Amino acid sequence: MKTMELRLTVNGVSQQWSIAPGELLLDLLRRQGYFGVKRGCEKGECGACTILLDGKPVNSCLIFAAQAEGRTILTIEGVAHGDQLDPLQEAFLDHGAVQCGFCTGGMVLSAKALLERRPNPTEAEVREALAGNLCRCTGYLKPVEAVLAAAPASSATMKRRRAARKAAATEVAS
Ligand code: FES
Ligand code: FES
Repeated sequence: MKTMELRLTVNGVSQQWSIAPGELLLDLLRRQGYFGVKRGCEKGECGACTILLDGKPVNSCLIFAAQAEGRTILTIEGVAHGDQLDPLQEAFLDHGAVQCGFCTGGMVLSAKALLERRPNPTEAEVREALAGNLCRCTGYLKPVEAVLAAAPASSATMKRRRAARKAAATEVAS
């Protein structure tokens, strides 16, 4: 079978994988063990396969793996910081926003992209950000509450990270 080499970064780790030219990104990620990327409708309708591609939520079932060449991917496996859950993950648990969990990875990633862009979003903005992630269990209220609750914590965390990056850059430069 004809293959090609793909170089990309997944959850902060540089990878080089052999892929078939027509392989979908969803299939590749699951083949490589990222099972948090769920296979749902495979038509771009349910959002279960959501990943962040260069920081933007996309349905990995609609993208060829080859289109990820040189790009940066975040899957749900890369959201926690070591043993410490991301504030969004904590909030989903605290608010009972996780039931069967099938949609949760995609929802958290969509919410993460929103909070990077809008650290303190309105409820309407949260609902819009989660609109592409279908959930059969929660009725959406709890996930929306979780994202709203996580916003200030995420914002504070991002500020701390930015300050740490700035301090590290200053140290290297001096
Ligand atoms: S599996 Fe990709 S949107 Fe449903
Ligand atoms: S928690 Fe089951 S689909 Fe959302």
